[in-house]
Amino acid sequence: MIAQTLKWVGGIDGFLELIDQRRLPGELVRLQCRDTERLYEAIKTLAVRGAPAIGVSAAYGLVLGMQKLTDTDDSERGLEVLAKSCEYLASSRPTAVNLFWALDRIRQSAERFVADKPNAKLQALREVILAEANAIYQEDVKMCRRIGENGQKFIKQGAGILTHCNAGALATAGQGTALSLMFEAHKKGRKFKVYVDETRPLLQGARLTAWELKQAGIDVVVICDNTAGWLMKQGHISAVITGADRIAANGDAANKIGTYSLSVLAREHGVPFYIAAPSSTFDPSIKSGDEIPIEQRAAEEVTTFGKTQIAPDSVKVYNPAFDVTDASNITAIITERGVIKNPNADSISKYLRS
Ligand code: MRU
Repeated sequence: MIAQTLKWVGGIDGFLELIDQRRLPGELVRLQCRDTERLYEAIKTLAVRGAPAIGVSAAYGLVLGMQKLTDTDDSERGLEVLAKSCEYLASSRPTAVNLFWALDRIRQSAERFVADKPNAKLQALREVILAEANAIYQEDVKMCRRIGENGQKFIKQGAGILTHCNAGALATAGQGTALSLMFEAHKKGRKFKVYVDETRPLLQGARLTAWELKQAGIDVVVICDNTAGWLMKQGHISAVITGADRIAANGDAANKIGTYSLSVLAREHGVPFYIAAPSSTFDPSIKSGDEIPIEQRAAEEVTTFGKTQIAPDSVKVYNPAFDVTDASNITAIITERGVIKNPNADSISKYLRS
């Protein structure tokens, strides 16, 4: 069974329902977001997380933002409110480009609509925004499945796969990116084992990925993050597969902190390193990974474990949420449109133009 991470309920006056990922695996609880403030908070605190899921949620966040308007407002006023909601939601998390991609896409379609039909009623504009958010949702579902279909061949019978963080259904509107390859290989009857890094400090691997894989009946083993190299040395890992939050024009890819170290370990041990991501994760506007903004998160995420303090009072902490893997360490990027082997500026630009 694949988790339905998010769902829009109703029409333009509806609301967004999300699985509250902060409470997994202990409790499967759904959260109702009925205004942009609640959604902003859900994104910021990782109730909803994972690059594509953040993008899709933000798209629906713009539908929520329009609910503040009244019948006396016109579509010009609607565009003003939309722009404000875009700015607000864009400030929730900085690294996953899918957030900005989805906000821009909705804004552009709304502006096109008003330019074409300047006398259109506000209600019609709100319908356009909801339709575009629904399109983003549906496309994400399809892209996830295709990523899986394109990449499942990299998971051979008897393989040992290593993954980091959560790039599964919980991170998207569909069946995930990295985990989609696993779901598709599993559907074909292949037997393999997935080692899941616990992914300190917020444990997306142990809490979320292990939960999803176990539910799907896939053989899963949770490891401490520092076990990965030793497993590779012993020959247990045939491939590393992760998702990405932003891929620069030269193929450098940001993903959860710890991904870069895995790529170095994989290279050292001759293990292929794959990134699975939809086209909405590419950011051709930036030349290299050096330009990707890296989110810094609260010290308490590191100094406490659950409610227990595990570091001295007021100790200094460095807690970047993401790192960047050099394109030269990536064997291939798997997308909904195919496989980009040995990614670099040329192959990425060719892919994006195709
Ligand atoms: O901080 P998070 O949990 O949002 O980080 C998520 C990741 O790093 C995922 O691996 C990435 O978004 C890819 S999700 C398909």
